[in-house]
Amino acid sequence: MRGGRNVLLGLALLLFTGVTLGADADTARHGTAEKPQGSQPPAQAREVPKLPAGVSPALYAIAVPPGAEPSPEKVTLGQQLFNDKRLSADGTIACANCHVPDKGFVDGKPQADGINQQRGQRNSPTVLNAMFNASQFWDGRAATLEDQAKLPILNPIEMGIKSPEDVVAKVRGLPEYAETFQKVFGRAVTYDDLAAAIAAFERTQFAGDAPFDHFIGGEENAMDDAAKRGWALFNGKGRCNACHAANAVSPLFSDQKFHNIGIAAHKQNFVDLAREALQTVRTGDQKQIDELAIQTRFSELGRFLVTKNESDVGAFKTPNLRNVGLTAPYMHDGSLATLWDVMDHYNKGGIQNPFLDGGIQRLGLTEAEIDDLVAFMFALTSSQFADLGQKELTRQQALKDQRPERDTEAAMGKKGNFGDLAPNPDKMNPADIGVF
Ligand code: HEC
Ligand code: HEC
Repeated sequence: MRGGRNVLLGLALLLFTGVTLGADADTARHGTAEKPQGSQPPAQAREVPKLPAGVSPALYAIAVPPGAEPSPEKVTLGQQLFNDKRLSADGTIACANCHVPDKGFVDGKPQADGINQQRGQRNSPTVLNAMFNASQFWDGRAATLEDQAKLPILNPIEMGIKSPEDVVAKVRGLPEYAETFQKVFGRAVTYDDLAAAIAAFERTQFAGDAPFDHFIGGEENAMDDAAKRGWALFNGKGRCNACHAANAVSPLFSDQKFHNIGIAAHKQNFVDLAREALQTVRTGDQKQIDELAIQTRFSELGRFLVTKNESDVGAFKTPNLRNVGLTAPYMHDGSLATLWDVMDHYNKGGIQNPFLDGGIQRLGLTEAEIDDLVAFMFALTSSQFADLGQKELTRQQALKDQRPERDTEAAMGKKGNFGDLAPNPDKMNPADIGVF
């Protein structure tokens, strides 16, 4: 099922015109000129909210299938639940503690803190645009927003309620909810309905309207020169588009796949850890995998916990980069403090390990080029967060002289070799590769 959705998403992304999904797109979707029986009505015939630049009706239709539009009542209920600390064991932690709406739905911490100040292994991603993810979580262990929402409530160190039955009993005991659930779903509270309401709220959190969206829509001056150079580097010498491609057709900045880019490599002996995990993980046991991912050192195995495929060791989902200026610190473990640190990581070719993705190679970017790429990423901030983005840029700029990941010699190919993986991979200076 998950695979099916990925395929659908992939197909549909190919179809974007950025405007409407009309007859042509239908043709492309089905690979034939004849209009198939039972095809969906064109997107423009449906009732959709006003969509910002960068979120086309076609993209919206994928995340919100026709007939599944969230009703205002359901969204309001979902928002209440999202903000309600009573959904945790001790009444101290709501979804909104780790996904703070005013901060762009993140908490600004390297790893999230749940009940009783217990710290997990992973960084809180934003809920903005999560509705467009082909799978949820850094390792994709949940297929849908509904599946996802059910896990943190039950995770012992996040919200910590013992069982779905306990959650339901607790919410049924709160008169305002008992009534609203009756009204919205026509029955007493269930765990599925609770997750559905939260997911409905999340499906209102699409965020486009960044300077980039206006630039790509034809407004030449919507991005400054540094960001424009950064965009060229993103698709050229920086090779970011190998995994984070975006254009008017596919605006997500993510291939929706999983890659080992060498983030956790310095902390772990991946081979031993993976061998141990093979004995422990019960494939398909979502609750067990959730606990291993959030609470244990197996967390660093990433996608491998879900698939047990060797090629998934240390692999994590390529995140969407929209509003990435707001979501520091970065990566699944929050180990990189600023976007300059992220660039330093990529520039030196990541951290070597036997499972490193082939797309990660030293880049030979100069300091000026790194600044341009960071400027470009800050041009992905949605207009409603423009002030916060500016503040965050200033904060990160002030940290620019602390660059623990910077290794200019390695980045320029003047030092080190790629050892066991590919001795003397190329005699060329990687700084010469690319369009600049
Ligand atoms: C204790 C902090 C915490 C709480 C509480 C919490 N989350 Fe999260 N959330 C996280 C972390 C950390 C991750 C990433 C975990 C992982 O990938 O293994 C995450 C992942 C997600 C994702 C996936 C996003 C993506 O890009 O893959 C969504 C959506 C989400 N949370 C929504 C919610 C909702 C809804 C609730 C409440 C029911 C909630 N979260 C409660 C910390 C929290
Ligand atoms: C081989 C695929 C690949 C390439 C190439 C790649 N990325 Fe990534 N990117 C990823 C994956 C996977 C992650 C998450 C890794 C993790 O957390 O372990 C990531 C994470 C990030 C993050 C952190 C986002 C967050 O929310 O924490 C940023 C920023 C980023 N990439 C920017 C870039 C830029 C800029 C480039 C080009 C210089 C680039 N990436 C090249 C796959 C890639």
